[in-house]
Amino acid sequence: MASRIAAGEVVERPASAVKELIENSLDAGAAEIFIAVEKSGTALIRVTDNGEGMTPEDLAVAVERHATSKLRTEADLFRIATLGFRGEALPSIASVSRMEIVSRPKDAASGHLLRSAGGNGKDLSPTAAAPGTSVTVRDIFFNVPARRKFLKSPPTELGHICDALNRMALAHPAVHFRLEHDGRTVGDYPAVSAARDRLRQVLGREVAKDMGPFSWEQGDLSVHGFLSAAPASFPNARYLFTYVNRRYVRDKVLTHAILQGYENLLMKGQYPAVVLFLDMPFEEVDVNVHPAKYEVRFRRQSEVHEAVARAVRLALRQEAKEPNTHAGFEMPAPLVGVSEMALAYGAAPAIPRIFPQQTGDVFVLRPRSDDEPAGFFSSLQIIGQILGCYLVCASAKGLALIDQHAAHERVAFERLRRELDAGQVATQTLLLPQTVELSAGEMSLVEARLDMLRRFGFALEPFGPGAYAITEAPALLPEGDYTQVVRQMVADLAEIDTSTRMRAHLEDRLATIACHSVIRANRILEPEEMRALLCDLDRIEFATQCPHGRPVLIEISREELERMFRRVL
Ligand SMILES: Nc1ncnc2c1ncn2[C@@H]1O[C@H](COP(=O)(O)OP(=O)(O)O)[C@@H](O)[C@H]1O
Ligand SMILES: [Mg+2]
Repeated sequence: MASRIAAGEVVERPASAVKELIENSLDAGAAEIFIAVEKSGTALIRVTDNGEGMTPEDLAVAVERHATSKLRTEADLFRIATLGFRGEALPSIASVSRMEIVSRPKDAASGHLLRSAGGNGKDLSPTAAAPGTSVTVRDIFFNVPARRKFLKSPPTELGHICDALNRMALAHPAVHFRLEHDGRTVGDYPAVSAARDRLRQVLGREVAKDMGPFSWEQGDLSVHGFLSAAPASFPNARYLFTYVNRRYVRDKVLTHAILQGYENLLMKGQYPAVVLFLDMPFEEVDVNVHPAKYEVRFRRQSEVHEAVARAVRLALRQEAKEPNTHAGFEMPAPLVGVSEMALAYGAAPAIPRIFPQQTGDVFVLRPRSDDEPAGFFSSLQIIGQILGCYLVCASAKGLALIDQHAAHERVAFERLRRELDAGQVATQTLLLPQTVELSAGEMSLVEARLDMLRRFGFALEPFGPGAYAITEAPALLPEGDYTQVVRQMVADLAEIDTSTRMRAHLEDRLATIACHSVIRANRILEPEEMRALLCDLDRIEFATQCPHGRPVLIEISREELERMFRRVL
């Protein structure tokens, strides 16, 4: 009974058993791990590997509590390299199921079979077997009806099993994984040598194609993996995978650091796709917080946070400097009969070219002066402005569209941020102070936050009961009514509480001001203004997103254009 209660901690659902069994196979050095489940794992789970196998003696004790072969010294407790280390997974699973283990060490002539039901009546017999181990778990929770009732719908439980597999597969590209459900192959990831290929297998081509590699080292911390360029985002954290020493973890510190690394590149409530591996000395991380949960505790938490946020930030900065083609056009299947046309087009050499060929400097309208940065945006050839708010440009790849409002906002934001980092935002003194009437609560809030407002470039003075006068405003803001932005700032400031979230809050405030700095109405830009805007974009980081996460740039490549016009299939 005691073991059945303990089992609840490790084996919450069929997917927990799958996870533990796969971990054991990985620990055994398997190159192939095949998983078969029936009825979403409730009827049967079988994990077969070609790992080192177990001798009959190993087998006899494998389902005994704390039978782990992986703790050789006490010091090992603190240096846990293998995925399993508690010696309780097999006994726990055995105690709530009918289990069969067939195993044969590589150098043995034949194998052995161990059978147990509910962890009792273990019986061992010789049997023919391939080298490796196969663990079969039938009727999980047959003797724990409460737990069985607690299970979710079959598709949900199967989903958990797929998640467990995918998490492990991402970290072990050299291992072939296959999952079958009720006799049908659900996932098949042949061994690959490049981690990127495993990404494609597990996350799919669409998600993987927007992800680029990153790596960063800081002392004995190493952070690397793949992350999505900012425009690719998802409404939940399902594409967020974090690992510590190749062990999948779900950790607030890591997630927070990643999101912080993205800063304001994502819209609120949006998540990136990230596969992040943190490698660090084993004694620095306590993975034994909970028997089966994916929790860890870092000894040097803030250092870990900083390293991860920086790794992500640097990678994104790199990406922002060399933007990919971000247009996410999904072209419908070509119409019947189009292929011939495409062929004819392809063969015709004399198609008039709207854009010049992509060679050297043809895109530069006028010679570049020295103070102009030689960047992506300044290399664009401006064709014109449409709808009063988009710049249409020719880029080396094809067509580039720039949202002028988002671009202005981004430029203003970066300028403000720089000023804020330098101490204070540049201000303008108002000839006519503007009064803001405030409620009693707001009055005391403003009084307490005057310093903060000043850092953002707003100087306020008491102006009789229930009002403040704005005497200075950020220089960047165009002339006009500042009471609205001050009200918004005050409301925002009310939310600032803990100092850890300060940085993020500051950036949100900057975004508020930047947003107000942009003249709302659509405006015709002079060619010089357009050029200046493009040069400004090259001078800042993260130029491809506005501070609210909207894209600044959409680029459509020649290939995409050709697909849209059905020149190619
Ligand atoms: N697939 C496998 N191949 C080889 N040995 C295994 C396998 N699964 C389990 N074992 C052996 O059984 C022991 C108990 O496994 P488990 O209960 O998961 O504990 P742990 O993994 O924490 O050591 C392991 O230490 C290992 O020696
Ligand atoms: Mg284990």
